[in-house]
Amino acid sequence: MNDETSQGLGSTADQAPSPTPGTPLGLGPSSRWWRNAVAYQVYIRSFKDSDGDGIGDIEGLRHCLPELADLGVKIIWINPCYPSPQRDHGYDIADYRAINPEYGSLEGFELMLAEAHALGIRVIMDIVPNHASVEHAWFHEAIASEPGSPERARFIFTEGEDGGETPPNTWTSVFGRGAWHRVEDGRENPQWYLHLFDWSQPDFNWRNPQVREEFLEILRFWFERGVDGFRIDVAHGLVKPARIPRGEGVGAEGLWGRPEVHEIYEEWRALADSYEEKKYFIGEVWVDSAEKLARFTEPGRLHQSFAFELLVQPWFAYRLRRSIERAFAVAGAEEGPAWALSNHDVHRVVTRLGQEQVDRDPDPRDMLADARRRWPVDVELGVRRAKAEAGLLFALPGTVYVYQGEELGLPEVLDLPDEVRQDPIFTRTGGAEFGRDGCRVPIPWSASGSSMGFGPEGGAKPWLPQPDSFRGCARDLEKADPNSMLSLYKRLSRLRPELLGGASRVEWIDAVPKEVVAFRAGSLVCATNTADEEREAPLIEGASFLLNTADLVDSSGCGAKGSVLPANSTSWWRLG
Ligand code: GLC
Ligand code: MG
Repeated sequence: MNDETSQGLGSTADQAPSPTPGTPLGLGPSSRWWRNAVAYQVYIRSFKDSDGDGIGDIEGLRHCLPELADLGVKIIWINPCYPSPQRDHGYDIADYRAINPEYGSLEGFELMLAEAHALGIRVIMDIVPNHASVEHAWFHEAIASEPGSPERARFIFTEGEDGGETPPNTWTSVFGRGAWHRVEDGRENPQWYLHLFDWSQPDFNWRNPQVREEFLEILRFWFERGVDGFRIDVAHGLVKPARIPRGEGVGAEGLWGRPEVHEIYEEWRALADSYEEKKYFIGEVWVDSAEKLARFTEPGRLHQSFAFELLVQPWFAYRLRRSIERAFAVAGAEEGPAWALSNHDVHRVVTRLGQEQVDRDPDPRDMLADARRRWPVDVELGVRRAKAEAGLLFALPGTVYVYQGEELGLPEVLDLPDEVRQDPIFTRTGGAEFGRDGCRVPIPWSASGSSMGFGPEGGAKPWLPQPDSFRGCARDLEKADPNSMLSLYKRLSRLRPELLGGASRVEWIDAVPKEVVAFRAGSLVCATNTADEEREAPLIEGASFLLNTADLVDSSGCGAKGSVLPANSTSWWRLG
């Protein structure tokens, strides 16, 4: 049957949606395409600036897609690129169905999408359903309407205490200070609205069916354009208590990860599954127990939620092993964990691991505190450990998320001048916390040039200043250096598919020194030494030595074919 007849005769009302435009060609098998894949997080504002305005853009990304394909990337996740006043760099969305003009246009986005697909790369966007921007049309309508109106009922408005002057309760914002803002609507005794993040990010009321319907429509809008999935921002938020508790001493218990949120994801999943080319959801979920976390990825809900374990754990073998075990226990049996060493919310891994390591659990009230410390850094040690942790990361079954610049071994920029810092965390805490600007500095593509190849020569300065030390991590230099972080990432990501195959679990190797974590997965054996001295490597019958992360060129330096594990390094062997 040729295409014409199949289209002419085959269309019935209950037919699955037709294949999305631009999806065929380069893409691999359509079922569970995220499994064991390498994903790359594009912080679009800082990735590549094509038009010289100092701000990364979609066209810049399109030009650089071949670089990502070369790195073995199969999925890109793009941080929010919708119109936004950028008070929280895109996590404050004014229009969910368009592209921020600073970043490009819808046509440009579709072109990038088609080219990514042709290179075998799937594209997932970031959706922010917990809150909008104060510039969103619905919020404007809400402010212009009466208290109690349907327009206000899309957000969470309520009267203050003490005659209206004091916030309704003592909930705090994740970014510091209180979570309520008093409206300036010119009315007598104005209401307050809830914002769990910045005041410019009003929370939606997910008990309102209009909100639910609107988000399904938004998902459809992008799915029909060929977008392959979404990373869900603050996926543990959304639904708030039906009755807002009032007054003093009201804690955040019952605010995050409420059971009602799963109904929403069940609806979303049904939509995702209705496409012939399966769509995918990964949640950013922070909850206080493994049981709660596991509920997000029960059958019929999200495919994955991030396993943040490795991103918050200090450099101790037993902790790494324990956190890997926990992540496997929580992940959906079929989909596997989604690993990450860093992202746009924490200090870069080189910096984190180059600081003093403290053998303690992350603070449950602020899991990210230890990943954003202002302590002295030994960058060389950090790079060495980051290489070792990359060796561990790429050996793990599941999806591996790499944050842009991690493959270059960029350090956190800790010395940005106060006046250039833009993160609301910095301003809301009065500078007590640096916040996240230091991991969002535009990345270096070449060792020379005024913006290190981030933008065209003669263009505007990058939106955050790049430190001179970034030149040493430029992509062009690292490409030419067989021992660079980039060469390591390429090597690991290319070996990974053939060694792991369809493996979905690790098998621990127990007979190792206490500073070593070792396992096999598929035909790969991986051992990471977290000690500052060398340790004996595990003896595995029939395994041939492949590489050591501390010295790719001369890994024979690790004793007779890998019988020794150098300090702070990971070795790989092939079985059979
Ligand atoms: C998530 C994002 C973060 C953002 C916040 C509010 O944690 O990763 O960057 O600021 O949500 O949307
Ligand atoms: Mg630009």
